[in-house]
Amino acid sequence: MIGTNNRVEVLHGVNLDMLGKRPSEHYGTLTLIELEVRIRHWARQLGLETSFFQTNSEAEYVERLHQAPNMTDGLLLNPGAWTHYSYAIRDAVEIAGLPAIEVHLSDVDTREAWRHVSVLEEVRAGKVSGKGVEGYREALAMMKQVFGS
Ligand code: DQA
Repeated sequence: MIGTNNRVEVLHGVNLDMLGKRPSEHYGTLTLIELEVRIRHWARQLGLETSFFQTNSEAEYVERLHQAPNMTDGLLLNPGAWTHYSYAIRDAVEIAGLPAIEVHLSDVDTREAWRHVSVLEEVRAGKVSGKGVEGYREALAMMKQVFGS
């Protein structure tokens, strides 16, 4: 339903489909599907409905953001490496005009310098990083607050 303010689309970007095979010290050991099961469970506890999308194509990620206002009320974004350089994704988030929370499993601000940059900085409502899978729970709680305000 439009205007219910309880729908959250979780958009996983490049290489997030490889969770479970990536360095566990940064990304843990869960696969993407296992992560999504947890996110859906936490969302339900907060009365939120989730949908999920993953792609390794920047163009598909942008297209999905263009469609987002027809499908959801808020965005949980982990664009992977695109976070650090894709102005196309930054602009598409702005165009979507929905509340967006940026999430990273690893602590991007204490890793390589190039990961400290986020092109989403001006267009997002919040950011959670370095809290692993639990970071998604925190991001959902943030979204709930944004919806309520
Ligand atoms: C990531 C951090 C990015 O720097 C990296 O390129 C990823 C995953 C994270 O969730 O920690 O692919 O977004």
